[in-house]
Amino acid sequence: MLTQEDNTLLTRTGPGTAMGALFRRFWQPVALSRELPEPDGPPMRLKILGEDLRAFRSTDGTVGLVSPRCPHRGADLFYGRNERNGIRCVYHGWKFGTDGRCQELPTMDSGPAREKAEQNVRLNAYPTREANGFIWSYLGPPGQVPPFPELEFTTVPPSHTYVSKKLQQCNWAQACEGGLDTAHFSFLHMALDDGEDATAKLLTKVSSNTDTVRWMRNDGAPRFTILDHAAGLILGAARRGDPNENYWRISQFLMPNHGLTPNAFPGENYHGQCWVPIDDVSCWIYNYTWNPDRPLSNAERDRFANGSGIHAEVDAHYIPIRRRENEYLLDRNKQKYETYTGIDGVSEQDACIQDSQGLIADRTTEHLGPTDMGIIRFRRLILDSAKALAAGDPPRALNHPAAYKVRGGGAVAPATQSLPEVLQARFGT
Ligand code: FES
Ligand SMILES: [Fe+2]
Repeated sequence: MLTQEDNTLLTRTGPGTAMGALFRRFWQPVALSRELPEPDGPPMRLKILGEDLRAFRSTDGTVGLVSPRCPHRGADLFYGRNERNGIRCVYHGWKFGTDGRCQELPTMDSGPAREKAEQNVRLNAYPTREANGFIWSYLGPPGQVPPFPELEFTTVPPSHTYVSKKLQQCNWAQACEGGLDTAHFSFLHMALDDGEDATAKLLTKVSSNTDTVRWMRNDGAPRFTILDHAAGLILGAARRGDPNENYWRISQFLMPNHGLTPNAFPGENYHGQCWVPIDDVSCWIYNYTWNPDRPLSNAERDRFANGSGIHAEVDAHYIPIRRRENEYLLDRNKQKYETYTGIDGVSEQDACIQDSQGLIADRTTEHLGPTDMGIIRFRRLILDSAKALAAGDPPRALNHPAAYKVRGGGAVAPATQSLPEVLQARFGT
């Protein structure tokens, strides 16, 4: 449970908010590279942290991320012409580079006045970079750009990764909490007791080990151990496995808005998500899958593209096919006889239940218990970080880009082993 004050602090990320200021200190995914597929192609609209922006890929391939309106008389640069190293407002022809500087001012005769205007008139522009399928930007104070976080999926060959995005129709924080709350698998993603086959089919999409189905079904009260590290939190959840064994699901929270999933056994694909606020009632979820050891196959790519695990089935605008407006195409007959939700897709089941908490979840009336320990620690870390930054103390994760190179995953371990021992055996750290 949070006070109203802390719930407001956690969930508001627009201009002038403490949480928004925290997010702005970190590199954030702002688009998929494939949304701007070619130099001098169409510009795109986007909104992040309550701020409207326009993006365009320039002639040399770099991406400009700029304020949306032409400083002359406010025309929208979405309608601009992306031409030879800049975007031209088509109202009167002013032209701007990816750095926001004014390159051409055809409405003014050459002379001192025009030179002065060319010096002073500019778009607000944020630095961008690309890494394995995402366009990232730093939207914080100029001159304080942090090192790029060394998330493992950005360090492997592009052939080893698959990325996607989807709209989530609720506040970022409850969606992020859903990703960190690994206790929910025992119900939200589970088939009914008499539906073992359906469960096995579901699980083969996220894990090759169907024993995990049985362990998760039999133990809905995993015991959590949470460990701090420089970039975030390790969240270990132990369920009873076969006699004298625990089945561990270990996820990672990485500041300020990444979660790594807990399912992968050695050799399997790893997955992560990043919840990027659009405004206070919606966010983009940027999903990334990687295999450190081998390229992903075409069959795997096809499966992800059609919706599998964290990758939702979406339309051409990255809006989920099963979403709030159509009640996620819930099938009550399926809910009666096959699965708890009656909704197809792990990602869609997550979206439904997270959206159902409200556009902005009310955390003042909750009844948290032992399986919510990861959520409690996440809130404490992010709230403390926002408050510290507001008091002038930037988060330490900014100075530890290598601490982002971690994995989440599953492990079977003797029941006597602690989380640090399990981490050592499973990940060597
Ligand atoms: S409004 Fe853009 S050039 Fe006039
Ligand atoms: Fe889930």
